[in-house]
Amino acid sequence: MDIKDIEEKALYEIGNAGSVEELEAARVKYMGRKSELVKLLRSLKNLPVGERKRVGPKANELKEKLMEAVSEKRQELADFYTPKIDVTKPGERICAGHLHPLTQVYRRVRDIFSSMNFSVVDGPEIETEYYNFEALNIPADHPARDAWDTFWLRRSGLKAQDSKLRGSGRPLLRTHTSPMQVRYMESHNPPFQIIVPGRVFRYEATDASHEYNFYQVEGLAVGKDVNLAQLKYTIEVFLKRLFGQGIEFRFRPSYFPFTEPSIEVDIRLGGSKWLEMMGAGMVHRNVFDAARYSPDDVQGFAFGVGLDRLAMVKYGIPDIRLFYSGDLRFTRQF
Ligand code: PHE
Repeated sequence: MDIKDIEEKALYEIGNAGSVEELEAARVKYMGRKSELVKLLRSLKNLPVGERKRVGPKANELKEKLMEAVSEKRQELADFYTPKIDVTKPGERICAGHLHPLTQVYRRVRDIFSSMNFSVVDGPEIETEYYNFEALNIPADHPARDAWDTFWLRRSGLKAQDSKLRGSGRPLLRTHTSPMQVRYMESHNPPFQIIVPGRVFRYEATDASHEYNFYQVEGLAVGKDVNLAQLKYTIEVFLKRLFGQGIEFRFRPSYFPFTEPSIEVDIRLGGSKWLEMMGAGMVHRNVFDAARYSPDDVQGFAFGVGLDRLAMVKYGIPDIRLFYSGDLRFTRQF
């Protein structure tokens, strides 16, 4: 084998070594004591002068070249198997998610009412005409129905397990959480106090203060002599805990078919303008009738507050649509 052949083969094997062991094998094979190259170098002194001058430098050059190739390859393999971790580098910040502002406000609301001994109750988003309207003293021809623009559902679209909804008027997406008042009273005896948080739906155009989907928290307390003063007290404690002691209240007479008397609660924070916060009132006797309670034996108060509204006031959010935009630049701020 002449020098050119040795070079070609040696460089090929060194370059392709996949491990330190393979590299060492190639090194021994081409540069070890028994290798052709070393034998050649050793035999130089026996060659005639002319020949020696021709072959000698080339053989030495190749030896250098192979040594270099081996050390380069050794470094390459070492780099490859050493994890490139700089333990002195500062850690990368892990991006954790967090609760949506509506969830945060809801949890706060829930905790406040829990501390006042209210239970949390869940109700169906698909309701019937009966519970959403009729049982709440809103008959079909009542003008108050116009105030709740409704998503009506086709009965044929209901699944078998929704059979409870059959036979009690047309199905719909609940326009408020108040239907749970009657549902709850049908299966529980007073005294009790509950809140019903949940999603409600209204068929209307969206703008900065209207969404077709939003959240309410209903409150209902029923007992032998529950009264309006207790309603006012409960609402004041609730809103003070949420917004701080500096809050001012205005209780205005209002109208809801399912409460009598009805009130509307306005609040003012830091002397700014009055904000309409929630509707409330004493449970109407027709609602007790619907629940088969005897209206002469019980009294109750009810209120309904928009969770979105609370969150908007609490955080100074100007547009309700931001809650549902899915825009992380918005949610990350809370
Ligand atoms: N259900 C009413 C609404 O959606 C709010 C309300 C609840 C008013 C309970 C009085 C009592 O506007």
